[in-house]
Amino acid sequence: MRRPMVVANWKMYTRASDAYILATTIRNMLADVDGVETVICPPAVWLSEISEIVKRDGKVNVGAQNMFYENEGPYTGEISPQMICDIAKYVIVGHSERREHFGEHDLEVNEKVLAALKHGLSPIICVGERKKSDSPDHAIKQLKEALTHVPKNRYKDVVICYEPSWAISKGKANSEAAPVDRALRAIAKIREIVLRESPILYGGSVDVDSVLDFAKRPEIDGVLIGSASLRASIFVEICKRWADAKNFKNDIVLEEENK
Ligand code: PGA
Repeated sequence: MRRPMVVANWKMYTRASDAYILATTIRNMLADVDGVETVICPPAVWLSEISEIVKRDGKVNVGAQNMFYENEGPYTGEISPQMICDIAKYVIVGHSERREHFGEHDLEVNEKVLAALKHGLSPIICVGERKKSDSPDHAIKQLKEALTHVPKNRYKDVVICYEPSWAISKGKANSEAAPVDRALRAIAKIREIVLRESPILYGGSVDVDSVLDFAKRPEIDGVLIGSASLRASIFVEICKRWADAKNFKNDIVLEEENK
């Protein structure tokens, strides 16, 4: 169901001690923040420990950054849905970095979405065009493929993230998020497919300064944060701003409903 969300994608960053300190600090700092669902997606090797750390307060959820779609078998180096379904609530599927560096294609993304749902995991399905000059319709094609054979009554269990890969920071400072109106155009088309059921996030170079531009748009339910999620104070500030902006909007809607 639609809800305000902020997802941290730590990518292939953090050593064990950094990861534990980061997760503990985020958990403690978010203890009194309400009105936004926060999710940490650490590297797979830290998944169980981070899940133990955050589950104490039950405010932060955990997601995997990827998984294979088979349950078990001779697939060296892979992790399966049944290995993570008791630890994680979410799994990122089809991130543009997986498509670009590991040749992940739409068919595989679809298999992963189906496998995730079968195991009670909510897939965070990433879609987006590769180059700035490409049409955002590319994202729609990816989404339709990703949702093949997914029954409509399961749409409430998926999260969609529009993340145009040209807007992703790629670890560089001073990268720029996509213009909000462009994100909104793509998100409107995504909404036509998933109707009212699924949260739709934007991902790509969101930081403390740009987050409000996205948060104040009711069409955008959340953000997926890469680089800016590796500093606890910055990530928590983003979560607070998201919660404040969304709750403020709800207050206005409620006031108008009560008139
Ligand atoms: P970024 O990553 O915030 O570092 O640009 C976003 C993403 O991976 O979608």
